[in-house]
Amino acid sequence: MNMKIAFVGKGGSGKTTLSSLFIRHLAASRVPVIAVDADINQHLGAALGLDEAEASALPAMGAQLPLIKDYLRGSNPRIPSAESMIKTTPPGEGSRLLRVGEDNPVYDACVRTVELDAGAVRLMATGPFTESDLGVACYHSKVGAVELCLNHLVDGREEYVVVDMTAGSDSFASGMFTRFDMTFLVAEPTRKGVAVYRQYKEYARDFGVPLKVVGNKVQGPEDLAFLRDETGDDLLVAVGHSDWVRAMEKGRPARFAQLEEANRHALETLHHTADAAYGRRDWERYTRQMVHFHLKNAESWGNAKTGVDLAAQVDPAFVLSEGAATPQPA
Ligand SMILES: Nc1ncnc2c1ncn2[C@@H]1O[C@H](COP(=O)(O)OP(=O)(O)OP(=O)(O)O)[C@@H](O)[C@H]1O
Ligand SMILES: [Mg+2]
Repeated sequence: MNMKIAFVGKGGSGKTTLSSLFIRHLAASRVPVIAVDADINQHLGAALGLDEAEASALPAMGAQLPLIKDYLRGSNPRIPSAESMIKTTPPGEGSRLLRVGEDNPVYDACVRTVELDAGAVRLMATGPFTESDLGVACYHSKVGAVELCLNHLVDGREEYVVVDMTAGSDSFASGMFTRFDMTFLVAEPTRKGVAVYRQYKEYARDFGVPLKVVGNKVQGPEDLAFLRDETGDDLLVAVGHSDWVRAMEKGRPARFAQLEEANRHALETLHHTADAAYGRRDWERYTRQMVHFHLKNAESWGNAKTGVDLAAQVDPAFVLSEGAATPQPA
C-alpha cells in the first residue's frame, strides 16, 4: 500500500498537529514515511519535535528548484532546459521519477531525517514564507517544488507521503489538490471551519478527489452534532483537546505511546481510511489530471513567462506508474 495524503483546512484548525500525530503513528507502525511541510506557516518540524535551531536549519525546497527541475527532467527530450520547466510540467519518457525509499540528489538536497521516539521519518519543507515574499508569487514557486516532486513520485508498497498544506486557492489553481489518494480536511466546529470544507468539497467533487473531514478541538456532543449536520457522511472522526499535544507545546513531550486512547483510535481510523482509498487510485486518471492542470497553467501564465509553448512538454503516451520510466544515472 502506498499513499499520498494531505492535511488541509483553515488556518489554525490543527493541520500541523494532526499531520504530525499521523506521521508519528505511521512511524510507530514501522512504515516508510516522507513528511512534507507545504504550509504557509512552517511548523511541521517543530511539531515533530525539532527545536528552533534544528527547524530553521531545514533545507528549503523552494531554494532548490533549479536542482529539482534539472534532476527530474533527466533526458526527457520534450524538456530541453530547467528554465522551461514550470511547477506543473508533467513527466514523460526520459524523465526521472522519485521513489519514497531511495536515495537521490533531490533528497540529498532537501530531506532531513527526524528521529521520533517510535521510529524515524524523512522530512522535506518548502521553506519559510517571509514578509518579503509578498504573498503569492513566492508562495507559488515554493509550493511548486512540492508539486513537481509529487508529480514525479511513484510510491511503492507500504510507503506514505504526508503533506501538511494550506487549503488556499493556490492548491486549486495548480492542481496540487488532485495529487492525493486521500485528503483529510481538518475542521473545527465553527462556521469558518465548515466554510473551508464546503469550498474544498466543491473543487474536489469535479476531480474525484477523495476527501474526509477530521473534526478537531471538538468539545462535546453539541460540537459533534454541529459537524455532523454540516459535513454529513464526510465526517470521519472527531478529535478533542489533547493534553499530550499541549504537553508537547509546553516543551515537555511525553512518549508517543502515551497519546490518549481516543486519539490513537482516531489515528488508526485515518490510517485505515487512507489505505482503503489507495485501492481506488487510477494512474491513468492521475496522469490525465496532471496534464489538464499543466495545459491550464501554460495558457494562463506559463507560456508567457517562459516564452515557449509548454503544451509541447506533454508526452501523450506517458502514464505515471510504478516502473513507468527507467531511472538513469545522475
Ligand atoms: N487536538 C488538539 N489538542 C490540543 N491542542 C491542539 C489540538 N489541535 C490543535 N491544537 C493547538 O492549536 C494550535 C493550532 O494548531 P496547528 O498549528 O496544528 O494548526 P494549523 O492548522 O497547522 O495552523 P496554521 O494554519 O497556523 O498552520 C496549536 O497551538 C496546537 O497545539
Ligand atoms: Mg500549520
